[in-house]
Amino acid sequence: MRYPQLDERLQAAADLFTACDFGADIGADHGRLSCYLLHSEKCRKMLVSDVSADSLDKARRLMKLHQLEERAVFRVANGLEALRGMEGTIQCAAICGMGGQLISKILLSAHGLLGGAALVLSSHTDIPLVRKTLTEIGYHVAQERIVRAKGRFYVLMRAESGSAAYSEKELYLGPCLLKLKPPLWQQYLMWREGVVACEQGHETQLTWIREELVDETGNRTDAV
Ligand SMILES: C[S@@+](CC[C@H](N)C(=O)[O-])C[C@H]1O[C@@H](n2cnc3c(N)ncnc32)[C@H](O)[C@@H]1O
Repeated sequence: MRYPQLDERLQAAADLFTACDFGADIGADHGRLSCYLLHSEKCRKMLVSDVSADSLDKARRLMKLHQLEERAVFRVANGLEALRGMEGTIQCAAICGMGGQLISKILLSAHGLLGGAALVLSSHTDIPLVRKTLTEIGYHVAQERIVRAKGRFYVLMRAESGSAAYSEKELYLGPCLLKLKPPLWQQYLMWREGVVACEQGHETQLTWIREELVDETGNRTDAV
């Protein structure tokens, strides 16, 4: 039986996940990430959770199909509440494929249950808010990746316990991305520039993006 393939976004989430005894997938839905982490033996056991019982059933069926259900704990729960009363320490938790406002709310409302576990996060929107929330709960951004899947860009983050302070520009564009300027950086910036240029009241953000798109002589790095 062929195991489900991960697209670039979920593969990046799997790559950023800690190899561990016990991981958690919050908002697991189809369950592909947990399935991969168990099958690849990156994780020995997974807490697979979703606020929707119907969504969680999809994950349950996938695990059963691949005979992995004995290494999974399934919980219908709101966000990190899934970790409450859990036997065993979660070492890493993924919260992917949700909006930034929701991820931020999930983190703020129950971060005490994390017990220092690393986080793998991917929000479709409001990424700066997620970074800011991490600093508010005593976490910092340890790694960031840009991937392209199904024709759009995604930013994935690995966050770890330990405080950090970021400038507004770092919150907006990503502290690790700004330092490392990964392969898709320029294309990502050009895409963001196009989006932000159409919005009113985002002149500062447009300036930050354009600062990154010029070389030391002030010429656009994307000019042909
Ligand atoms: C778009 S799916 C993402 C699935 C998978 N994590 C991914 O990245 O491909 C979002 C899932 O989050 C779940 N969800 C939404 N709010 C949630 C919450 N507060 N706690 C747990 N899961 C939630 C939804 O039910 C849905 O199954």
